[in-house]
Amino acid sequence: MGEMKIENFKSLKDIHEYFAVKNSCALKKVATQPVYEMMAPSSGIVFIGEAPGRNEDKQGKPFVGAAGKLLDELLKSIDYTREDVYVTNVVKYRPPSNRDPSVEEKDACRVWVNAELIFLKPKVIVTLGRHALERFLPNLKISLVHGQPYSHSTGIPIFPMYHPAAALYNPNLKDTLAKDFERMKKFLNSKIKATEYEIEEPIIDKSVSKEKQKAIDEILEM
Ligand code: URA
Repeated sequence: MGEMKIENFKSLKDIHEYFAVKNSCALKKVATQPVYEMMAPSSGIVFIGEAPGRNEDKQGKPFVGAAGKLLDELLKSIDYTREDVYVTNVVKYRPPSNRDPSVEEKDACRVWVNAELIFLKPKVIVTLGRHALERFLPNLKISLVHGQPYSHSTGIPIFPMYHPAAALYNPNLKDTLAKDFERMKKFLNSKIKATEYEIEEPIIDKSVSKEKQKAIDEILEM
């Protein structure tokens, strides 16, 4: 298949089909299928979770189990539906018994997620839980930064939130999540300003200008 450039991808379907073949994650052998969605979000909101669970693995779709139901409720509380947003995961394949994904497993899906983000050009990336948070804003504690947007070197603000699954175990977090969803809506309506957070190495690059192309090629190379 050779080296891919971001312009070669015409749709999310193209991206998913390409990376599902190229991906070298060890979980591929034990999972039923990769988990992803194909519709770009009208709202520009992209959620990034951790990894698929049992229901997601069966259906091939993200957040369709109990955590997904809570996500739907939270979206409804700010007048959005699932169809308005895009949901993806740091890892595309289910880890056995829902254990935490390893560093290698997260790395194996990194370029795949980069390609999704470059293609979608989100208005905001909402990280759900610590795995997604540390991918964009390393060394921040979720308990300290949730509900607060951070500017990012890619130009796309990162909005950290707790993972909805955490609220299934700790009901207090449900209120926290509901408040953070309200704040995210306010942020999108320009009523809250993002906090500065600068990192040296660009994690994703939404530009396709010539001088940036090399970086993108490196991102997309497997
Ligand atoms: N939890 C996640 O992080 N992702 C899913 O897709 C489902 C549950």
